[in-house]
Amino acid sequence: MKNNEPIYVTKPFLPPFEEFTEGLKRIWDSKLLTNFGPIYNELLEGLKKYLGVENLSLIVNGHQALEIAISTLQLSGEVITTPFTFASTTHAIVRSGLEPVFCDIRMDNYNIDETKIEDLITEKTSAIIPVHVYGTPCNVEVIDAIAKRHHLKVIYDAAHAFGVKIGDQGIGTYGDISMFSFHATKVYNTIEGGGLAFSNAELAREIYLRQNFGIANAEEILLPGTNAKMNEFQALMGLLNLKYVEQEINNRKKKVELYRHYLSKIPGIKLLPNSEKIKQNYAYFPIVVTEEYGMTRDELAVKLQKHNIFPRKYFYPLITDFTCYRGRYRGDTPNARYIADRVLCLPIWGGISENMIYEICQVILGE
Ligand SMILES: Cc1ncc(COP(=O)(O)O)c(C=O)c1O
Repeated sequence: MKNNEPIYVTKPFLPPFEEFTEGLKRIWDSKLLTNFGPIYNELLEGLKKYLGVENLSLIVNGHQALEIAISTLQLSGEVITTPFTFASTTHAIVRSGLEPVFCDIRMDNYNIDETKIEDLITEKTSAIIPVHVYGTPCNVEVIDAIAKRHHLKVIYDAAHAFGVKIGDQGIGTYGDISMFSFHATKVYNTIEGGGLAFSNAELAREIYLRQNFGIANAEEILLPGTNAKMNEFQALMGLLNLKYVEQEINNRKKKVELYRHYLSKIPGIKLLPNSEKIKQNYAYFPIVVTEEYGMTRDELAVKLQKHNIFPRKYFYPLITDFTCYRGRYRGDTPNARYIADRVLCLPIWGGISENMIYEICQVILGE
């Protein structure tokens, strides 16, 4: 059977059109289009509350936020990180003139293996940049303790982890800084956008300077900052989407439960473990296709495509195999390579129909 309508890996969440057009009147009335306007400030307060963080800055996108976090903490030398992530994590390190050192990942949740971090620390190491891959929290307590012991900074790439909590503690409260992405393809979006949550309130001014050309006041420029301000149109989208994000996450939860119902007992199809202690956001639905399945990940992807279903190989190729990075940096990461060669993210968004999930699973089940 072939679907008429292609099923892509996700669909962006949009608020009702009328709410956005109504909101635009605020911008036309204020004549403030950007530069930390009233909608920016309203969104900032709303997001602090939702994410359960005390300190937050909103940035034009997640990648710029990551670069600003690195600059704010004045990192130098080597940074221990994971190769199983989106290009942005490593690019931010390299573009900041630093050297990534790759640590292998855990086979149970594909996050950095905290037990392997200490072996990679040298006198040049200044920080650890782990990623909460697919929104699953890293072992934050152990990582934060390692950092403390060795006087290192920690920046969590929480691009996937919007709204995730460990118990009732917001994921953005760990480490020195956490970066959230509000890109259109994420659980929550401001079209493009990002946020930095941080523990030390004094960092707010440092981040502000870096996202606004280093301008302290009309006559004082303190540092060569960039321009990474979130504008009022982005903030408006964010303010409206914030009203619906809990509903979106609940809808995703139901769809993920349906996937689990169909796929949990297929030999050779490995799902992420479920944890009662974590408030999840159901951002992605990765499966790992192992030898037992009888078909490779790539063969399964082609089979799904023939049915008009377009999953994505997040994250393949592995960062260390990128043309620009191959053979350049330290780190032996066999687990990361194993997962990158076998992982497939299936379509997921709040509004995906139960019928679509049934069809996708039928193809995987070979029926
Ligand atoms: C792990 C990770 N880090 C960083 C980013 C960069 O975020 P943005 O797209 O908002 O720049 C993304 C996503 O796009 C991501 O998936």
